[in-house]
Amino acid sequence: MSFCPQTAGSPQGPTPLAAAAVYQRLKPARRLSLTDKAGAFLDLLEIEPGGPPVTQTRREEVRREIERHGFYEHSPEELLWGCRFAWRHSVRCIGRFFWKQLEVRDARGLRSLEDAASQCVAHVDAATNAGAVRPLVTVFAPARPRSKNTLRIWNYQLLRYAGYRAADGAVLGDPAEAAFTEKCLALGWKPPAEKGRFDVLPLLLSGLRQKARLFEIPRGCVLEVPLVHPEWDWFKELGLRWYAVPIVSNMLLEIGGIQYPAAPFNGWYMGTEIGARNLADISRYDMLPEIAQRLGIFSNRESSLWRDRALVELNRAVLHSYQTAGVRMADHHTVAQAHVRFEEDERSAGRPVTGRWDWLVPPISGAATAVWARSYDPTEYSPNFRYQPSAYC
Ligand code: ARG
Repeated sequence: MSFCPQTAGSPQGPTPLAAAAVYQRLKPARRLSLTDKAGAFLDLLEIEPGGPPVTQTRREEVRREIERHGFYEHSPEELLWGCRFAWRHSVRCIGRFFWKQLEVRDARGLRSLEDAASQCVAHVDAATNAGAVRPLVTVFAPARPRSKNTLRIWNYQLLRYAGYRAADGAVLGDPAEAAFTEKCLALGWKPPAEKGRFDVLPLLLSGLRQKARLFEIPRGCVLEVPLVHPEWDWFKELGLRWYAVPIVSNMLLEIGGIQYPAAPFNGWYMGTEIGARNLADISRYDMLPEIAQRLGIFSNRESSLWRDRALVELNRAVLHSYQTAGVRMADHHTVAQAHVRFEEDERSAGRPVTGRWDWLVPPISGAATAVWARSYDPTEYSPNFRYQPSAYC
């Protein structure tokens, strides 16, 4: 196992040189052994200012565990910091300034799907925190060599609205969830007697020696915000709403070569995710034409910019509604400015400033935000949250 001697014991943290050397070994798709991946992760932990101590005894213990079992287990501290690094390295996320606030719920020891479902519900509850949204990750058991029993969460997010596809192809609800909704219905899900545009989907879990099972999320746990506009009273008649917390549940968390296929995580919403995408995209709720009609600006002339004007009003409504409902949410200008501060932190620590420009630039007013005129290294260093094959397609 490799070790960076120049990093040891400095209270101010590492020299930029040390960070650069460690990051070289954290690049993705390098054919490293598990021992080397674990070693690089422990080096990263060691140079982390304020991180937990990494002893020589621990390094040897990890090496022995891997030799014997082809596997090693993270200590609670390693897991916590591993998760934080995974967020810090998430190139698509504009909210990373707050990466050190991430807290971990350790659910690695669970034995049944029922327990896993109640942990998911407990995550929704703890993350929602009555509107004072907390960044959280719940880590379930890692994938072990030769085991097919790892828990998988089939949902894209723990909370999501059903999309019911009719025979003519039209979708009631969220079209992005049409395939998943069909899967749930085929497995016996009973939707509400009167189907609506905002029906919360059940959890679909498999693994732990059981076949796929559905679990309802108790209604009382799901905080939602009905959308109203700060000026236009008619806006509430559109009947729009959205849930408080986005909890992505289909990505694989990788730390030091260990893979956690079930590790739902959340931050809080940035308004444009809802106002400029979920409710606005033509392939989603497609609300702009109706909003423009109500505003009296709908036109068949694109150059009237009716879409752009409707977008701004929808985004004002989203931010205003979450604010007045006391649910934590950020606007895209403030978040972009915080990301620039995050970039400065990374640069001064000697770490690469990573990002995917096409993901970081907000979907409205891109050039008016602080991230527009910048460029980023798109490398997805380890630890990270990665895509994995869907559990059901
Ligand atoms: N964009 C996704 C959505 O609208 C959520 C992705 C994660 N977002 C976040 N703020 N952590 O539901």
